[in-house]
Amino acid sequence: MNNSILVTGGLGFIGSHTVVELIQSGFNPIIADDLSNSELFILDRIEQITGIRPKFYHSDICDINKLKKIFEENPDIKSCIHFAAKKAVGESMEIPLVYYKTNLLSLINLLEVMKEFKVDSIVFSSSATVYGQPEKLPVDEHSPLQKSLSSYGSTKQMAEDILEKTSIANNIQVLSLRYFNPVGAHKSSLIGELPKGIPSNLMPYITQTAIGIREKLTVFGGDYNTPDGTCIRDYIHVVDLANAHVQACNYLLEKENSLNFEVFNIGTGRGNSVLEIIKTFEKINKIKIPYIIGQRRKGDVESIYASCQKANQKLQWKAKFSLDDMVRDSWNWEKNIMSKK
Ligand code: WQD
Repeated sequence: MNNSILVTGGLGFIGSHTVVELIQSGFNPIIADDLSNSELFILDRIEQITGIRPKFYHSDICDINKLKKIFEENPDIKSCIHFAAKKAVGESMEIPLVYYKTNLLSLINLLEVMKEFKVDSIVFSSSATVYGQPEKLPVDEHSPLQKSLSSYGSTKQMAEDILEKTSIANNIQVLSLRYFNPVGAHKSSLIGELPKGIPSNLMPYITQTAIGIREKLTVFGGDYNTPDGTCIRDYIHVVDLANAHVQACNYLLEKENSLNFEVFNIGTGRGNSVLEIIKTFEKINKIKIPYIIGQRRKGDVESIYASCQKANQKLQWKAKFSLDDMVRDSWNWEKNIMSKK
């Protein structure tokens, strides 16, 4: 069986964990990454974990000629997983055109080149952000999408639209995975999240506060209509998320040419508040997180968590890791990366 899969953004946080799980499941990932938000040493770490050094192209997907070259040199590519994208919500409001150009041009290039080289399946990194604040929780895949407040969110909505229409016109199979909030790190602590600058996401902010890089965490809003007043999210361990991609690839192999476009929620089905995350982090890691309750952050939804029944049934995938695992692995990774600096 031919198991080569092009993984764009394969040295990033979710990409690198997915590459590890793919290798360990017998796939042959080929990485394309422009290193704009990742580091080359992650390739060594992937090799350390798996014993295999995947083929790597230092390449920007927005450059269609470089992309074609990858497909020319690897005629065995059977499918693609497309992670490569810009992902900072706040930044996307300051430089929206960079977000539209990068996130959409890379996708369009990939779809064009896939057509030329007759590669007919793709797994796409989407986001729970496409739902906005759902009326009904847990949110399932039938929930209507809401006009996104951020440029980042609208690139994900537009990308899904492009994929849905192209899947029919070009007769390709597309699985769009809507991620909830990925946290944690590989149990080896060799790979994990590497935020550039001040983190905007909760977990890296917590670990950087715990280790002393940040003075204190600001909890964005304590007056939401939730049991403790703070926002609720569905936090998922990045290794569980990586395994959802492996199952998506297996599903594509099984279902050859019998589907066009399908979306899946990838979360745990559980909602936790910001304060619950802080308390669990403190309890499991036996370390205090200095924090204050501050203003609400513009654009935050109050509460969202997933119904993952569709992924459970169709992809035969279920999140296994607990919140305790997530906070422990996030902290171990932070300590490990700091000790190497
Ligand atoms: C989680 C909760 C904050 C930081 C975004 C994107 C999503 C996905 C993940 C891309 C919220 C609170 C945070 C802090 C806080 N995208 N918080 N203090 O906003 O749910 O999702 O990131 O990679 O598409 O929309 O994640 O980690 O920023 O926030 O209180 O310093 O933590 O208000 O309730 P979010 P997050």
